[in-house]
Amino acid sequence: MSVATEKETAAATSAESALSVRNLWKIFGPRADRIIGTPDAQLSRAELKAKTGCVAGVKDVSFEVAPGEVFVVMGLSGSGKSTLVRCLTRLIEPTAGSVLIDGIDVTTASDAQLRDLRRNRVSMVFQHFGLLPHRQVIDNIAYGLEIRGMKKKERRAKAEEVVSLVGLDGFSHSYPDQLSGGMQQRVGLARALAGDPSILLFDEPFSALDPLIRRDMQNEVIRLHRDLRKTMVFITHDLQEALKLGDRILIMRDGEIVQIGRPDEVVGAPVDDYVRDFVSEVPRSHVLTLKWVMREPRPDDSMDGPVMSCDTIVRQAAKAALASEHPVRVVEGDRVIGIVDDDAILRVVVAEEEAHQ
Ligand SMILES: Nc1ncnc2c1ncn2[C@@H]1O[C@H](COP(=O)(O)OP(=O)(O)OP(=O)(O)O)[C@@H](O)[C@H]1O
Ligand SMILES: [Mg+2]
Repeated sequence: MSVATEKETAAATSAESALSVRNLWKIFGPRADRIIGTPDAQLSRAELKAKTGCVAGVKDVSFEVAPGEVFVVMGLSGSGKSTLVRCLTRLIEPTAGSVLIDGIDVTTASDAQLRDLRRNRVSMVFQHFGLLPHRQVIDNIAYGLEIRGMKKKERRAKAEEVVSLVGLDGFSHSYPDQLSGGMQQRVGLARALAGDPSILLFDEPFSALDPLIRRDMQNEVIRLHRDLRKTMVFITHDLQEALKLGDRILIMRDGEIVQIGRPDEVVGAPVDDYVRDFVSEVPRSHVLTLKWVMREPRPDDSMDGPVMSCDTIVRQAAKAALASEHPVRVVEGDRVIGIVDDDAILRVVVAEEEAHQ
């Protein structure tokens, strides 16, 4: 959802990362900490369970999230997404590994540092809104500020600022049960934003919403991200949602990373059948960029065709490309790196039609 130059910063080193996760493990069960570093750690989840009674929720996961990036974690139910995101602020205590947020080592943080982190730097939005039923919307939104010890007038003023940000104008004095599910989730979103955190963590926040409301809320997140540029970690089991929101997507299976990549990489080059299965239904022309369909330039190529960036989505390029008499010259910066003929465009579009028959 952001431009190419920002995506390129996604491979940031840990020094400049908003979030850095290194060799993170969470094993549930008796004497879980004794398993890491032994051959048992290499067992599959089922084998480990059978042998030791322990469940590997998260297995040796490492990744970096750049400031302002939207990083999506996706996988089937039970793949470890919630365990992973809860380990980030130690709502679940990791068994091993480290987590750095804004350069602060969460895994070795003192209680006071951890409190500061949860109150001021990181906010979570869950599927179940967790709203306080006897409090008005405005006081639900201000709840985190109240915990911080902010005075009523000040925190209500702050909460009022985010009310309009999430489209809740006019509902400040309603009670949660007077709102629809979508509106309640807006309150959850507003509450997360009120403290002006540097990172927002979402654990399947829209899974329980109707498809249309869900789409609205996804668009809301996109808009908020465009306006606020907050770093986001967004968990979902819905690939469409992942592709729509994510600058990059981490795909998990049985606690492990299967693939990390931009939407076009995951769709264009799935690493195995698990990922291929996920992406098989995706309309490729909506996700793949010209980089994925171009060929090498040849000396006899016309220099008169339209020029397009290699990051242009195929669908967006299709009309102009097909209308032109000459093939598209694909550029990265000023350099022509490839050519896209009509055939290449049509191949993607036709394959897509066939996939949906
Ligand atoms: N407290 C716990 N004790 C034992 N096992 C657990 C515990 N919490 C999670 N697990 C196991 O860890 C694995 C990962 O669970 P997790 O809830 O992280 O998956 P998920 O990807 O969030 O799934 P869903 O999409 O259903 O929310 C599962 O096998 C689950 O049964
Ligand atoms: Mg979960």
